[in-house]
Amino acid sequence: MDYVGGIKRVLGSQECLKGRLSVSDFLPQKDHQKILFDFYGNIPVAFVSYIETDDGIDVIFLTTHERYRRQGRMSKLIQKLKKSLKNGQRIFLELRESNLIALKFYQTEGFSQIGVRPCYYKGNIDAICLSWTCQNELSPCIHL
Ligand SMILES: CC(C)(COP(=O)(O)OP(=O)(O)OC[C@H]1O[C@@H](n2cnc3c(N)ncnc32)[C@H](O)[C@@H]1OP(=O)(O)O)[C@@H](O)C(=O)NCCC(=O)NCCS
Repeated sequence: MDYVGGIKRVLGSQECLKGRLSVSDFLPQKDHQKILFDFYGNIPVAFVSYIETDDGIDVIFLTTHERYRRQGRMSKLIQKLKKSLKNGQRIFLELRESNLIALKFYQTEGFSQIGVRPCYYKGNIDAICLSWTCQNELSPCIHL
């Protein structure tokens, strides 16, 4: 997989990301850093980059190409991450408080707010910290 080509393709001309992040910010640097793509045919149209930890997954960044949004693509990638977790593990992430679309997306995916990081982003913008906890059904106890 050509990570750089895939990431550039997905980022496309997203104005909102210009100057904020570079491709290298998303590239897996170490073994525990991963990137998951969704494809339209063989064209990468969405990705999520993340780090695996003992507690679960820290999402670094995620985005869907503007033309392919509202098609359930990011939801599909998040489902894959959720399925990879064990009971009690969590997905952690943070976002700009002004990013209401992403907030709506995460709420739809069952994420809850766990904190705020004041002035975390440039321009004194607060970060909202969210998490989702894996709660697999446990085997029912059988009382004899
Ligand atoms: C947030 C983002 C990744 C969502 O990707 P997506 O592939 O369009 O999301 P999905 O199609 O899987 O959306 C699943 C659900 O989330 C909610 N949702 C997604 N986009 C929404 C929007 N613009 N307005 C309201 N609800 C939205 C909806 O409930 C949607 O289900 P529905 O379409 O059946 O109503 C995308 O908008 C994006 O790339 N934004 C710019 C980058 C960004 O802000 N990344 C997050 C940084 S932390």
